[in-house]
Amino acid sequence: MTLQGKKIVLGVTGSIAAYKAVELVRAFVTAGVSVRVVMTESAQQFVAPLTFATLSRQEVMTDLFTLDAEAKIRHVAAPDGADLLLVAPATANAIAKFAQGLADDLLSTLFLATTQPVVLAPAMDTDMYRHLAVQENLERLRNRGVRIVGPATGELASGLLGPGRLADIGEIVQAATELLCPTRDLRGEVVLITAGPTREPLDPVRYLSTRASGKMGYALAEEAMTRGARTILVSGPTALSSPHGVECIRVETALQMHTAVLDRLAEATVVIKAAAVSDYRVAQPADSKLTKRDAPLTLELVPNPDILKEVGTKKGERIVVGFAAETGDLIRRAHRKLTAKRLDLIVANDVSQEGAGFGSETNLVVILDSGGGVEELPLLPKRQVARHIIDRVVGLRQHKDRV
Ligand code: CTP
Repeated sequence: MTLQGKKIVLGVTGSIAAYKAVELVRAFVTAGVSVRVVMTESAQQFVAPLTFATLSRQEVMTDLFTLDAEAKIRHVAAPDGADLLLVAPATANAIAKFAQGLADDLLSTLFLATTQPVVLAPAMDTDMYRHLAVQENLERLRNRGVRIVGPATGELASGLLGPGRLADIGEIVQAATELLCPTRDLRGEVVLITAGPTREPLDPVRYLSTRASGKMGYALAEEAMTRGARTILVSGPTALSSPHGVECIRVETALQMHTAVLDRLAEATVVIKAAAVSDYRVAQPADSKLTKRDAPLTLELVPNPDILKEVGTKKGERIVVGFAAETGDLIRRAHRKLTAKRLDLIVANDVSQEGAGFGSETNLVVILDSGGGVEELPLLPKRQVARHIIDRVVGLRQHKDRV
């Protein structure tokens, strides 16, 4: 995979992280990419255009109100002008403009004019990032096919601790590379993925559930789709929107997930079960709200079907991957599940470890295979864990094709 000869436009907006965009330019230029930098006015308060001009060896574009601005925009946004628009760092203000379609400066105008893939790497204070307005804007852009990378979690310039740091330069380069030189090694495969928790109703207002956010399964769906697979995502209730280009089937209970998976199983050549399925459901959910009584309440729970086990028995030529979230005795328990459910791979994580728990942006996993292999991965963003799992699936497919 080579980036040599590719052309990108790098938009830099007014965040303290603008200085990190300098590293980004260096990384791309070293890889043989032509980088045309566009700076907003506030970005120029943080880094001088000359820095970018020197490193990119190209004039930096800053001003919409020049005589040749229109010609420049047309040239840069044209299909042969650039292969990708990357905005890093992207401030809350820039993200809002892109989401709303405002075009009051060069970068926002370019954003509207471009027909090429777009990657945004947000960077801002945690409170700003968490604000519903920013979240809604990001969601809107994501739904339109914009790839959002990061932000990373850590200490911010303000001293706050939380999400808002610009993603690692390596991660941004990787995201751009995936769009510039897509690896289509899952072409021809149909990947069925489950994600999120299930909800088992007690009555019309209450339910039993698990602490899963769905992030791991959604990252897998995005990765599988990017690598050329037709991707079907069966998702329990999550706050996430399905990745662009993925068929998403929303379910609530384990029984519904069971039906959805079995309905689509015949099409699938790969099944990855990242969902945290509730093992039990309430035997008789009440039709109306349970009222408080001055006595203990006993719920009768009945087992839910083990969806993955059933998939394992109907495996055929399929590649089947399971997950095991444990709080101790990780390898032994995961290995037992790998064998009992006839899996090719199991992705095990100890959810009591820092950064590996439900809802976090990162994961710390061990991948066990049916040949006895044990691969420990370092703490990584979930998207990178997903890439690794898909690499293993591709490896298994190549192996199966050889024998
Ligand atoms: N799984 C499933 N259906 C269930 C329970 C689990 O498909 N009813 C799948 C999960 O999606 C996961 C794997 O089985 O890929 C392991 O789930 P886990 O909850 O760790 O294991 P269980 O088999 O439920 O065993 P235990 O709860 O005793 O750890």
